[in-house]
Amino acid sequence: MAATHKRVLLLHGPNLNLLGTREPAIYGTATLADHVARAASAARDLGYDLDSEQTNDLGTLIGLVQHAGTRYAGLVLNAGAFTHFAWSLHDALKSVGLPVVEVHLSNPAAREPWRHESVIAPVALGTVAGFGGESYVLGVQALIKHLESR
Ligand code: DQA
Repeated sequence: MAATHKRVLLLHGPNLNLLGTREPAIYGTATLADHVARAASAARDLGYDLDSEQTNDLGTLIGLVQHAGTRYAGLVLNAGAFTHFAWSLHDALKSVGLPVVEVHLSNPAAREPWRHESVIAPVALGTVAGFGGESYVLGVQALIKHLESR
């Protein structure tokens, strides 16, 4: 793969801008910037650049996914609560066709029943959930290993 394509995008959905103070017993005390820095370092170690965006707005997130189609080799996505109902986001990911790894800090399958369904999972390579900030690192590594193995 050409060097210019060695770029992945880490996307965060609603309320993830509040990490650090948001329900620390569930999500920990690291900020979004802390998680992004760790994820970028993991990508760099594997020879990739990582950009990151966060939005609380579903339409904006869909726009970012559409835009990513021609600019990135793949996506790592924590869609927050959009994970559980936003079929328009599912359709956007399917339309763009980029490899995507779904990540969550917590393990939604072990939480309230409404968190058990993911509309992202059917269009993702796989999911990393339940490892706190390590979920982002593992997700980035899994995506890049996938890209390099093609
Ligand atoms: C989350 C899990 C979702 O259920 C929740 O709505 C979030 C965060 C996680 O990273 O654990 O906002 O995606």
